[in-house]
Amino acid sequence: MTAVDRAVNIEGLRRLALRRMPRFVGDYLEGGAGDGGGIRSNVNAFRQYKLQPRALADVTPVDTSVELFGRKYASLFGISPVGIAGIYRRFADELLAEAARDANIPFVLSGASHATIETVARVAPDHTWYQLYGAHTPEVTDRMLGRARDAGVKVLVYTVDYPLQPRSEVVSRTGVSMATGPTIRTFPKLFLDALVHPFWTADYLRSGGMKLESWTAYAPPGSSAKQVSAYYVQNWNNAQTWRDLDRIRSLWKGPMIVKGLVHPDDALRAVQAGADAVTISNHGGNKLDCMQGALDSLAQVRAGAGKDIRVFFDGGIRRGSDLIVAKAIGADFCFTGRATIYGVAAGGLRGAKRAIDILQSDLAYTMAMIGCRTVVDITRDHVIAARP
Ligand SMILES: Cc1cc2nc3c(=O)[nH]c(=O)nc-3n(C[C@H](O)[C@H](O)[C@H](O)COP(=O)(O)O)c2cc1C
Repeated sequence: MTAVDRAVNIEGLRRLALRRMPRFVGDYLEGGAGDGGGIRSNVNAFRQYKLQPRALADVTPVDTSVELFGRKYASLFGISPVGIAGIYRRFADELLAEAARDANIPFVLSGASHATIETVARVAPDHTWYQLYGAHTPEVTDRMLGRARDAGVKVLVYTVDYPLQPRSEVVSRTGVSMATGPTIRTFPKLFLDALVHPFWTADYLRSGGMKLESWTAYAPPGSSAKQVSAYYVQNWNNAQTWRDLDRIRSLWKGPMIVKGLVHPDDALRAVQAGADAVTISNHGGNKLDCMQGALDSLAQVRAGAGKDIRVFFDGGIRRGSDLIVAKAIGADFCFTGRATIYGVAAGGLRGAKRAIDILQSDLAYTMAMIGCRTVVDITRDHVIAARP
């Protein structure tokens, strides 16, 4: 039995993950935007609610499955896109995809992934969704969409909440941009940090510098890992508008989700523009530190945009009860970013599976305890406001 198997909750995996990686990498994962207040808001938003169980409901067997876009998935959650995930564990994209496939939940490959869409779609052909970051050069966006389609991906997630690369105060202090790497000034400190985290460092050195393989095809031929990252940053599309959404909608024939909305009017507009679902998300607190918790945005969107649109959610989910609260407040489906990253970072494939298993078994247990046999049985009546 490994330490990962002994972890009883996501917090246990988090501690193992942070212990294995250098401080400057952990800071990047945990830092969030600004002073990190957005992450705290997301997690704390769940503490406003308590569960209200109902008695004498037959809950055998508990069924956590959810049907989405004509396919039945095993649980109420999938895995959110996390860029440059390979820095937390080499091959993290592939390992998370494999764990998602085996657990029968969706895995959303980041538009800033280390692995290519073709590689990941081969690992998990029925479970890989593709997240698009529109590129400044439209032809690059078009080629990405074409590659995702040709790789057999059915579902597109278009992220629209990042007009700029984020700023984190913790990361500014360490001086390392994950996109472009260390500078001469920061090198001595990073060197020592890497030295005391030998497993992570050996992984990193073997990878040859963690290339953004998803972008290699567009960068100038022969580009190094650092040059590909620079090309990616330079191609950031900071001029996206609703017209881009229309264009992408017309190019992608399958189900499409717009991710990163928090306002009811934006949610309605995205659906009117042809989105099959919207994901209420503040990028896990990485966008701004002064936003309300994502769960509060979810409540606001449901109240303002009505019951008829399909709403997905991510931000702050660390426990099975969080999934239930999100469902009760209005989410049709949820995603986890950091929770599953902690797992894969702590223990590779075994850790990714452990993270999924912890959330899944916690979800099933809590559903039974509140008298819900299926996900559809979870209603607003199952949560009440916590006393301040
Ligand atoms: C390190 C990191 C990288 C991320 N990269 C992406 C990305 O490439 N694309 C994207 O749409 N969202 C990205 N996100 C946001 C996640 O998809 C998700 O919205 C967020 O992690 C949910 O919050 P949680 O971590 O509390 O679960 C990233 C989040 C983190 C923490």
